[in-house]
Amino acid sequence: MSVSSSGSAAYSGSLEGSNAQRGLWSSRLAFILAATGSAVGLGNIWKFPYVTGENGGGAFVLVYLLCIAIIGIPIMMAEVMIGRRGGHSPVNSIKAIAQRDGLNPAWKLVGAVGILAGFLILSFYSVIGGWAISYVGTTASGQLSGQTADAVGAIFSGLLSNPGTLLLWHTVFMALVMLVVAKGVRSGLERAVSILMPALFVLLLIVVGYAMTTGHFGQAAAFLFQPDFSKLTTSGVLVALGHAFFTLSLGMAVMMAYGSYLPKKISIAKTSITVSVIDTGVALLAGLAIFPIVFANGLEPGAGPGLIFQTLPLAFGQMPLGSLFGTLFFVLLIFAAWTSGISLLEPIVEWLEEQKGMNRTVSTLGAGAVCWALGIASILSLNLWADFAPLGFIPMLEGKTIFDLLDFFTANILLPLGGLLVALMAGWVMSKPAMEKELALSPGAFSLWFVTVRFITPIAVGVVFIYNLM
Ligand code: PHE
Repeated sequence: MSVSSSGSAAYSGSLEGSNAQRGLWSSRLAFILAATGSAVGLGNIWKFPYVTGENGGGAFVLVYLLCIAIIGIPIMMAEVMIGRRGGHSPVNSIKAIAQRDGLNPAWKLVGAVGILAGFLILSFYSVIGGWAISYVGTTASGQLSGQTADAVGAIFSGLLSNPGTLLLWHTVFMALVMLVVAKGVRSGLERAVSILMPALFVLLLIVVGYAMTTGHFGQAAAFLFQPDFSKLTTSGVLVALGHAFFTLSLGMAVMMAYGSYLPKKISIAKTSITVSVIDTGVALLAGLAIFPIVFANGLEPGAGPGLIFQTLPLAFGQMPLGSLFGTLFFVLLIFAAWTSGISLLEPIVEWLEEQKGMNRTVSTLGAGAVCWALGIASILSLNLWADFAPLGFIPMLEGKTIFDLLDFFTANILLPLGGLLVALMAGWVMSKPAMEKELALSPGAFSLWFVTVRFITPIAVGVVFIYNLM
């Protein structure tokens, strides 16, 4: 599958206001695959289990699921709609809509928040992607076979304590991302995702199958699905909200950028729901794969960002053909992270090309290099700067390293803020008839969506913000 150029058989309908040279996704499936490629990534397999563990399990998961359903899906629809209606890179799509519908051009700030967030996220995302690359070697070499939890933990600490190794794999990851982005969305994205996403799903099922044999599957399921509200804190609610945005790639204009390539005839609602359901399914599967191993080995659910790197290798060390499955698993994790990484870099590159007239290769190299350099701060905060908490004087940010701060600030502040702006724009200022036409929903469904973005999302995000600042 490839993205066809406008005017080909797959393209129908008019793309008003769009640049006629732009390619379009070849089919609904192609868009779903690419959007899923962006959504499914380290957020599902690395971050979801560890933030769930840190925030006490079931009640946190419930809030997260509510955030996906009530806030995430409507915002995703709004972003894809803005992108498709604008037909350009996020900033210019908004500018085009503002011109056409008579909005204040300052709304293009939504795109700017997104570009900034993508930049900051990719800088540490690439470091974690690097961990995954390093674990391919660790599993393939067979050094995990029959290891104890302590030994597996020591391998992980060994990796974190070595800035040189971390830098090497971070560099490899960034290079992989830049390679695809430089080639353009048409040749790279779709093909990679259509094979790799289903393969990742199957591999996760295999690990869940193994996790069922540990004898602690029931305990893990209870941990994930039996809410204990006494364990839920206000900051936990903020993390759940932030994670809903992070995992669905919302609030940073990625879905706008991808939506700008979406043919008119395709239903935005159906595709957004499909992407969200797949994304959530992968996260829950990852939880079901990881927590039985945590409990069976007496590990700590709240172990933090290292959780999957301390649990999954243990499972692979014990299961038959573990080295093979383990290697495959980390290869697929790299691919999942790769397709997400591409989508983090894409909006800024698209913007540099369109706005600054740079060619694609130059803008990819420039943006990628700055992001790579910023990643070094995250690498150092895992070892040499591990005790350096630059904003530690703020109670909420106490003890947070640069890496923690980047994660916190992007996922919990910038993305919900970007999402809030999208909701306000769609709910309060964009032309309603134009949105009705773009979304093509039944009147009832449209009203439901409209009320959500107009009232429910802004209130929910606002309340969570205010509670956390107090
Ligand atoms: N959704 C991706 C993940 O879960 C991360 C991401 C966030 C990608 C925001 C793009 C934009 O791994």
